Amino acid sequence: MSVHKEIKRITTHTLQDFKKARIKISMLTSYDFSMARIIDSAGIDVILVGDSASNVMAGHETTLPITLDQMIYHASAVVRGVTRALVVVDLPFGYYQGNSRLALESAIRIMKEAGAHAVKLEGGGEIRESVERILTAGIPVMGHLGLTPQSIYKFGTYTVRAKEELEAKKLIEDALLLQKSGCFAIVLEKIPAKLATTVSKKLLIPTIGIGAGGGTDGQVLVSHDMLGITKEFKPRFLRRYLNLYDEIENAVKQYVDDVKSKNFPNKEEQY
Ligand code: KIV
Repeated sequence: MSVHKEIKRITTHTLQDFKKARIKISMLTSYDFSMARIIDSAGIDVILVGDSASNVMAGHETTLPITLDQMIYHASAVVRGVTRALVVVDLPFGYYQGNSRLALESAIRIMKEAGAHAVKLEGGGEIRESVERILTAGIPVMGHLGLTPQSIYKFGTYTVRAKEELEAKKLIEDALLLQKSGCFAIVLEKIPAKLATTVSKKLLIPTIGIGAGGGTDGQVLVSHDMLGITKEFKPRFLRRYLNLYDEIENAVKQYVDDVKSKNFPNKEEQY
């Protein structure tokens, strides 16, 4: 068994130690008890209750509609399934931007009602006050820069961010600022690999990339994407480890056939 699997409980400090020891951090999303239990027992370091639940669980086009109550519902189910991983929960859109008091109240609700271990917020300088206020309550904060899906209507597309020098410079400044404010880690989403490597080298806190190349201190994927439960979403950065959409569909087809043909249940499958 590798050293990292022997750790009983991952904390924000463990992640800092991983960075120092050059051990890569593994992170996946989860939104429910059953999946969280499997992912946790497989040895994942961090489980993100992402607001991507808005897409993959609720079928919305963007992450904007999900509410704080819905995030708390998902997060509390995940926490019940986890014994080892650090559980980080996204603060949803509209519960922290431009209002640091609301940000603190929202983060406290997530910690108190869901039993989460940390929260994640999207943005840099513009959310600094919210980050710092949440930290005053002793709640660990993970940052998120690059493609920040809660700002999709500002960006207009889901294409790679910070390709231009000006945006890349701002991203580096934001990363340093989030570190100074006290964030314990930062997600870097869909930015050039070279930039992500530069940021990761400049920071003392770990970076966790999605579509940001191999130079970050860890990697995160949406579990439904890497397991192939989502079908149409095929960005270049995504590695599919299973094709569960097809496997589940085939199993259900088989079940329907078995019921219709009276092949299920058989004598052993009844009382
Ligand atoms: O909500 C989410 O799943 C995320 C990841 C893409 C990092 O924020």
